[in-house]
Amino acid sequence: MGNIGSYEEKYKNFEWQLSVKELEYGKDGMYNLAYYCSERICEKGMADKTALIWEGFQGNKKKYTYNDIRLYSNAIAQFLLDNGIKPEERICLFMDRIPELYISFLGVLKMGGIVQPLFSAFGEEALFTRLEDASTCAIFTTMKHIRKVRKILHKLPDLKYIFVVDAGNKKLEKFEISFNMEKAQLNEKFDIYKAGPEFPSVLHYTSGTTGKPKGAMHVHSSLIAQHITAKWALDLTTDDIYWCTADPGWVTGTSYGIIGPWASGVTQVVLDSGFNTDKWYSFIERHKVTIWYTAPTAIRLLMKEGAGPVKAHDMSCLRHLISVGEPLNAEAVIWSQEVFKKPFHDSYWQTETGAIVITNFPGMTVKPGSMGTPFPGITAVVVDPKKFEPIETAGTVGLIALKPGWPSMFRTYWNNKKLYDEKFKNGWYICGDRASIDNEGYFWFMGRDDDVINTAGHLVGPFEIESALLEHPAVAESAAVGKPDPVNMEVVKAFIALKPGHEPNADLELDIMNFIRKKLSPLAMPQAIEFVSSLPKTRSGKIMRRMLRAKEWGEEIGDTSTLEND
Ligand code: WT7
Repeated sequence: MGNIGSYEEKYKNFEWQLSVKELEYGKDGMYNLAYYCSERICEKGMADKTALIWEGFQGNKKKYTYNDIRLYSNAIAQFLLDNGIKPEERICLFMDRIPELYISFLGVLKMGGIVQPLFSAFGEEALFTRLEDASTCAIFTTMKHIRKVRKILHKLPDLKYIFVVDAGNKKLEKFEISFNMEKAQLNEKFDIYKAGPEFPSVLHYTSGTTGKPKGAMHVHSSLIAQHITAKWALDLTTDDIYWCTADPGWVTGTSYGIIGPWASGVTQVVLDSGFNTDKWYSFIERHKVTIWYTAPTAIRLLMKEGAGPVKAHDMSCLRHLISVGEPLNAEAVIWSQEVFKKPFHDSYWQTETGAIVITNFPGMTVKPGSMGTPFPGITAVVVDPKKFEPIETAGTVGLIALKPGWPSMFRTYWNNKKLYDEKFKNGWYICGDRASIDNEGYFWFMGRDDDVINTAGHLVGPFEIESALLEHPAVAESAAVGKPDPVNMEVVKAFIALKPGHEPNADLELDIMNFIRKKLSPLAMPQAIEFVSSLPKTRSGKIMRRMLRAKEWGEEIGDTSTLEND
């Protein structure tokens, strides 16, 4: 971190930058991260500055200043209070990447609600599990997605309000209320809820090997880490045009797609449309994006198209590139240096960490294939998997572990304190990933330490897939594992043993696929199915996914006696 000093130099004149001190004590007792993302920026004289430039998939555009997002989020907060919603109740956001999604995130927080963002591509089962677990009382959605909510509403006694942001004159059903953000009564002065540093803010669901997805609960003081990392790891300044390609259904899309940039007074751009090489490069060129935060899968897709499309656009606006979510292969770093004239800087973190914990800092020498070094204030080590003691020898693989206490650390798993406690061993928070540290302190990612599949940067728990498969009448047992894929790093492969009387064939495979499609999010859908007569198991009867996975990756299966004890 040799050049951190020069960064201090660089930033010392940015007086408006949020000081940690001010945050720690709250301004006039005001400790609500939504305040820091809107009011405060206006108070600093940037009310007319553009906060959000939005483009829809059909090319439609909208622009919002910091004053706009302040007023609209006030209106949303007031609307929630008017409907009788109380602080600490869970309010889900289930929308595509439309402006209402970003602004209602602040609106919910302003009235003290706990915001639960969910990926709009989730199927009804995935949605149901998460709304049920959080006893969610209200959901913001659109006509496009309301069908999925209607289907599960009868099973959700706590869900009392469905706010539809684009209903227009369409007829709504019971419990559904039309809310048009742009036509809402504007509210110059909303009495923002004085949340306090430890007050719950965001609930993000994430998958593990076993059981249902768990809600990682964050608190308002996460802002300290999100703001400081936005500044030092993403290098955001008020002069930047910033593009985070992640959807706020996932933590990157909130920590660095809402909180980090807006608490820094940055203009951010959002493209509500899927991946397309030409569209993406044109978007960067048109908006003169200076800082780009994206994921390895997207970079690999761009690499596939080669340097040609890059040359067809003016990419000289790009100043700093950062990647997150999956291992960033060395080739991608080298390629980006060639075509963009700057390397992608990797950043490592998790839903649970709330903010970047290991990264290649701006200006730091990037070792292609390495994740970089711990963020200042973060104590990160690798520990041995038995005693959970730090490994001193450089190059030895261990489990990534963090010293608890950084501001954006999750405070619990919703309704699951036991699982939360299990994440801590010998005084360390265990991330669940394997890595080694070289003699210069750089971290090298090796893989996950559990059976969770990381497909295109999204974590998929095998349990969800296997449960869906088991509901099919022909399936006796199943195992879902990651299989290598040149673009998505891994895709889901399902091994299925059939019940007696069923024969594997293409018709049955199609039938099974159609059956689970309704239950799973598109990301979790198996890309391959293999019928087997039985699955490898431990003596206690647990399916050995790791053995199946090793076969897919052409790896040594190794000592199965350790697997036996899993
Ligand atoms: C898991 C966390 C980070 C926010 C988005 C994902 C994997 C994350 C990297 C990286 C290799 C990475 C880990 C981690 N991961 N960043 N730079 N290199 N792997 O949050 O859904 O909670 O996933 O993603 O396995 O534990 P998440």
